[in-house]
Amino acid sequence: MKKVINEPKPANNKKKRLVILASGTGTLFLSIVKSCKTGHLKAEVIHLISDHNQAPVLEKAKKENISVKILNPKKFSSFSDWDKALCRYLKSQKPDLILLAGFIKKIGPGVLSFFKNRILNIHPSLLPRHGGYGMYGVHVHRSVLEVGDKKTGISIHLVSEEYDAGPILAQIEIPVSPKDTPESLQKKVKQIEPTFYISTLRKILTGEIPLRKDTNPEEHNI
Ligand code: GRF
Repeated sequence: MKKVINEPKPANNKKKRLVILASGTGTLFLSIVKSCKTGHLKAEVIHLISDHNQAPVLEKAKKENISVKILNPKKFSSFSDWDKALCRYLKSQKPDLILLAGFIKKIGPGVLSFFKNRILNIHPSLLPRHGGYGMYGVHVHRSVLEVGDKKTGISIHLVSEEYDAGPILAQIEIPVSPKDTPESLQKKVKQIEPTFYISTLRKILTGEIPLRKDTNPEEHNI
């Protein structure tokens, strides 16, 4: 009798295609790339997109053999043109998920509507606290200390029209000590960010954390 092999369904077995958008040093970028390479994440980083041709993350991408595209908004005549170019480029990469990992620019309406519920961001505070325009890097931690919060943390959320305002998918709390300075708090948070982003991504990829699917399910089912 012919042996029946229960092959896994290809859709479940396929590595998810990740595109990362980053403008900074690329610690998170590198951690995600490494987790994909070791198989900890069943995914593949297919591209890095940056808005800055001097960003240190570019060097990291080069060393890891990840293709890079620079789309500097200053080189476009309007924000809308930049949004369209970014959308066109992203479409050509066919990503399952787009990950912001220290990407400074606001994501435009074209990209947001095509990739609805497929763009994630990590923010170094317990959103909705200390998010929004100007809340990046050490400014976030300064704001936490200024209002005397006893705890801070990390949030992973879906990207929407407003900075740091989309639906929250996961959060982790981090205690603030009376001795903390903005810099010490930033260091504490940054130490935890890579592990937290990756463990959350794992849960998203396995479906344990669902992404909201209020649009075309075919398009948005990762
Ligand atoms: C992280 O602290 C993240 O919270 C924020 O941008 C920073 C990126 O850091 N969104 P790096 O470039 O990965 O070191």
